[in-house]
Amino acid sequence: MNNTEKLEFTDQVAVVTGAGRGLGRQHALLLASRGCKVIVNDLGTAYDGTGKAEGKVADEVVAEIKALGGEAAANYDSVEQGELIIAAAMQAYGRIDIVVNNAGILTPEVWSELTLESWQRTININLTGVFSVMKAVWPIFIEQQYGRCIMTSSPAMYGAGVAAYAASKAGLIGLANSLAFEARKLKLDIKCNILIPQADTRMTQDFASSVNERRISQGKPASRSAPAEIMQRLSPDKVSAMVAWLAHSSCQAQASIHEAGGGYFARLNWARSAPLFATELEGVENAPVPENIRDGEATLADFVNGDMPKSGDGSMGSPSALEQVFKHLKSE
Ligand SMILES: NC(=O)c1ccc[n+]([C@@H]2O[C@H](COP(=O)([O-])OP(=O)(O)OC[C@H]3O[C@@H](n4cnc5c(N)ncnc54)[C@H](O)[C@@H]3O)[C@@H](O)[C@H]2O)c1
Repeated sequence: MNNTEKLEFTDQVAVVTGAGRGLGRQHALLLASRGCKVIVNDLGTAYDGTGKAEGKVADEVVAEIKALGGEAAANYDSVEQGELIIAAAMQAYGRIDIVVNNAGILTPEVWSELTLESWQRTININLTGVFSVMKAVWPIFIEQQYGRCIMTSSPAMYGAGVAAYAASKAGLIGLANSLAFEARKLKLDIKCNILIPQADTRMTQDFASSVNERRISQGKPASRSAPAEIMQRLSPDKVSAMVAWLAHSSCQAQASIHEAGGGYFARLNWARSAPLFATELEGVENAPVPENIRDGEATLADFVNGDMPKSGDGSMGSPSALEQVFKHLKSE
C-alpha cells in the first residue's frame, strides 16, 4: 500500500548550488514549495565556465519562490569558495539540512582538442567545488547529527566525447562514497547520494550549438536535433522529484546512484563478477600468470554468480579478496 503522507521540509534549510536556472532552479522551486527555506546560489557563468560571471539569475528564482509564498535568499559566490556559500546560509537561516551540489560546467572540447586549462577549469568547478562546499558544511552536519547531500553526476561518465567533464562527474561518486563512509563511521544520520540527470537546459542547448559550430567549421553537416516532443519531455522539472526524495529525512538511501530524466527514474549499482581463483589449488606454484586470467575470462564475465560491492567494503571487496582466497584454500 502506498504511504499517503506528503513529503515536507518544514523548518529545514537547503543550499542549492547553480540554482539560478535549469535543473538547480527546479530543485529549489520544488523544495521551497514543500516548506524548505532555500539558499539559491548561482555564480551566473556561461555553460562552459568561461567569461565573466554576470546576471543576477538567483534573484529571479528567489523572487519566484517568494511570489509562491516560499522563503529563499540569493547567493552569488562560486562553489570554488564553498565556505562563503555555507557562511551565507548560516547567516540567513542559522542551520543547513540539505546541500544539493548542482552547479556545474561543461567544457565542450573533444579529447584531441582538450587543453590542460580546460581540464583544470572543469575539475575545479565540478569536483573541487563540491569538495569545497562539502568541507564547509560537514562540521555543521556533524554538530546537527543530521544532513542530506546530493551530488550531480552525469551519464557522460559512462563514456562520451567530453573527457574532462566525464572525469569530474565520475570523481563525485568516489567523493560521495567516502562521505557516506565517514557518516557511517560516526553513526550519524547523514546521507550522501548521487543524481545522474538528463534534461533540456541552457547547458545542453549551448553545448549542442557549440558542437554544431565545430562541425560546420569542419565542413560537416550540422547534427540533427531531437524532435520537439522529446525535448519537451526532457524539461528539468521532471528530474527534481528524485532530488526532493533524496533530500528528505525519511530517505535512508546512502551512496546510491540514481538516474532521472523525462519522468524516468532508475538506481544503479556496482556489480562484481564471480571470483576467479588462480592459487595453489589450481596448480599455480608461484604468482598467477596472465594466462590464468585469459583462461578465466568466462568467470570474470559471470555476474550472475557474483555480488554487489557494498559501501564500506574496503578496497578489496566483501569479504575482502584475501579472506576469499584463504576461504578458498581451506575448502580443499
Ligand atoms: N542538463 C543535463 O542533461 C545534465 C546531464 C547531466 C548532468 N547535468 C548536471 O546538472 C547540473 C545542472 O546542469 P544544467 O543543465 O541545469 O546547467 P545550466 O548551465 O543550465 O545551469 C548550471 C548553473 O550553474 C551555475 N554555475 C556554474 N558554475 C558555477 C560556480 N562555480 N558556482 C556557482 N554556480 C555556478 C551556472 O551559472 C548555471 O546557472 C550540472 O552539474 C550539470 O553538469 C546536467
